[in-house]
Amino acid sequence: MSYKSLHFYEIENAIEDSLEEVLRGLIGKQKMIPPKYFYDEVGSNLFVGITEQPEYYLTRTEVDIFRCYLLEIVEEIGTNCLLIEYGSGNSEKIRVLLESLRPCAYVPLDISKQYLATAARSLAKEYPWLQIHAICLDFTDEFELPFSLNAKRVGFFPGSSIGNFSRLEAANFLGRVRRLVGEDGGMLIGVDLKKDPIILRQAYNDAKGITRAFNLNVLNHINKKFRADFDINKFEHLAEYQRENGCVAMYLSSIENQKVNMGGSEISLACGEQIHTENSHKYSVDEFASMARESGFSNQKVWTDSNTWFGIFYLS
Ligand code: TRP
Repeated sequence: MSYKSLHFYEIENAIEDSLEEVLRGLIGKQKMIPPKYFYDEVGSNLFVGITEQPEYYLTRTEVDIFRCYLLEIVEEIGTNCLLIEYGSGNSEKIRVLLESLRPCAYVPLDISKQYLATAARSLAKEYPWLQIHAICLDFTDEFELPFSLNAKRVGFFPGSSIGNFSRLEAANFLGRVRRLVGEDGGMLIGVDLKKDPIILRQAYNDAKGITRAFNLNVLNHINKKFRADFDINKFEHLAEYQRENGCVAMYLSSIENQKVNMGGSEISLACGEQIHTENSHKYSVDEFASMARESGFSNQKVWTDSNTWFGIFYLS
């Protein structure tokens, strides 16, 4: 079957996975594993599981806001834009917007080629009127679109993935988006807001242990990828809200003194020593709005749920 309106591009700017990079992270004083290793096939599926947990309010709340304020959001953006989604994954959330927003083209960006191709194909089948330009690349780097289409460019970055950048990286990222969309472009972005630390702690420590399994799976992925022998039974999932940084920090804590082999090198872990795996920064509405302003977006509109737990911003 061919899809008249589906195009696929690959931009080779993705940083190679390297044993050296991972080793370097595991020999320092504060050990760490780059968060991109969460998302092998098992990890991507576990993450979908996280979004369905009652404690993980983020996804549910964001989708509710999209549904509730759909018409206002569409009015703000306008129809016929060129809609560029950063880290489109399974292109699930965009479905809520498509029929009303009627963009002239949808441009999903993702680093995972197989995931992107499958998602783009099923979207093309479901929305025959929609022109799709799927691009496989590392969107955290600067890039230009590999095709030309004269329309207002609008970035789409849901899920509070912006929170997984440090505050400095987040500001730099917004600046790059601002340059890509240009003077009359915009960006629709979901941001998890600061709230009672108890709610935050529960969201990252669900009762069923899906987040725990997701965090531990990073070790299984490293084992397969780099011939390492981490024993996931010797680690504990830790997620705590650090009020001073406004962020939930995720760790894997060693439950005993142990040695791990990886690609011929030996890594020592003391009992209680922690490997940092991810940060999830939370913003107040004002904090995020001023960061957006400093990155070159002079107008900000925000929609939230009734608890103000989550915000959807339209920056232009
Ligand atoms: N973007 C998600 C978030 O910050 C990612 C995430 C959810 C996550 N739960 C996690 C990352 C647990 C690491 C570990 O909410």
